[in-house]
Amino acid sequence: MITPDIIKAADILRAGGLVAIPTETVYGLAADALNEAAVRRIFAAKGRPMTHPLIVHLSDANQLTAWARDIPDAAWRLAKAFWPGPLTMILKKQPHVPAIVTGGQATVGLRVPAHPVARAVLTAFGSGVAAPSANRFTHISPTSAEAVREELGDKVDYILDGGDCAVGVESTIVDLSGGVPVILRPGMITSDAIHEVLHEPVMTQKKESETRAPGMHTLHYAPETKTLVLSAQEIPVYLQSLSASAFPLALLTHSGLHVNKDLKVIVAPMPDHAGDYAHEIYRMLRALDHQELKSIIVEAVPESIEWEAIRDRLTKASQR
Ligand code: TXA
Ligand code: MG
Repeated sequence: MITPDIIKAADILRAGGLVAIPTETVYGLAADALNEAAVRRIFAAKGRPMTHPLIVHLSDANQLTAWARDIPDAAWRLAKAFWPGPLTMILKKQPHVPAIVTGGQATVGLRVPAHPVARAVLTAFGSGVAAPSANRFTHISPTSAEAVREELGDKVDYILDGGDCAVGVESTIVDLSGGVPVILRPGMITSDAIHEVLHEPVMTQKKESETRAPGMHTLHYAPETKTLVLSAQEIPVYLQSLSASAFPLALLTHSGLHVNKDLKVIVAPMPDHAGDYAHEIYRMLRALDHQELKSIIVEAVPESIEWEAIRDRLTKASQR
């Protein structure tokens, strides 16, 4: 729906400004993807290395041909199945897509987000919008307008408040620019779900190069507070082994673990359903990060496929 807020956001984008927009995954820091000076401001605001490519957001799949070339049938099938939604496709870029957006690569990341506010802005703006997550480099992604304010403050010209992000973790990224589809970043659209649509083998890139996917950078998605992932069996033993100076600390548990009441442990109950857990995780880590804790312990989540994106983000969060 076109509201005064949406018109204002589109005007700022046209003028080369930065607008934080809600998407169903996380908030994005948006700029006109064809305006190099505007895109440069994204990198400055985030403190992000210039070689790290940005995702271009489109209002609908019909715009794919304006940004990508040699589009394989697989891309159209995935677009039909998952767009609008939390899936990013890496495709060969059209020549006019600026190098600053793609990190100088021959490919471009494209996504049609599902959040009604993002869609309205994209429709009003009428062209592609480059938008990384609206956090400072290495921080966790914001899932509320409040979190964007905390991350970027006055570095952004306007923040559109679209409430809490429904999905809560970043989109699945699938590279379709080569022969075989390769998942570069797991998300809540699982590799199995992609395989079901494509009926062909889908690979998962285990270790991405820093240039291609800074999501794999060791300091990515990490709270400031030291974060540790331990199994349910390890947690009581670990807590008993700590000296008094290791407290207070927080424990995120999805299975309802109890701890000795004498210990200074903030127990944060988490959902035991992957979708609900994803929705909560960044908000919870961000909130705990404000509490001057000595550490955050996260109970390891299940090994099944629907938890793959969460396992990935928890691994990254625990590598500071
Ligand atoms: O859910 C999301 O994807 C959010 C919302 C705002 O859409 N965006 C997001 O953007 O997470 P960002 O910049 O934080 O992460 C984008 C990832 C990076 O790891 C980047 O390296 C990768 O996408 N990427 C973008 N273009 C690429 C390309 N041409 N080749 C390989 N990786 C690419
Ligand atoms: Mg990011």
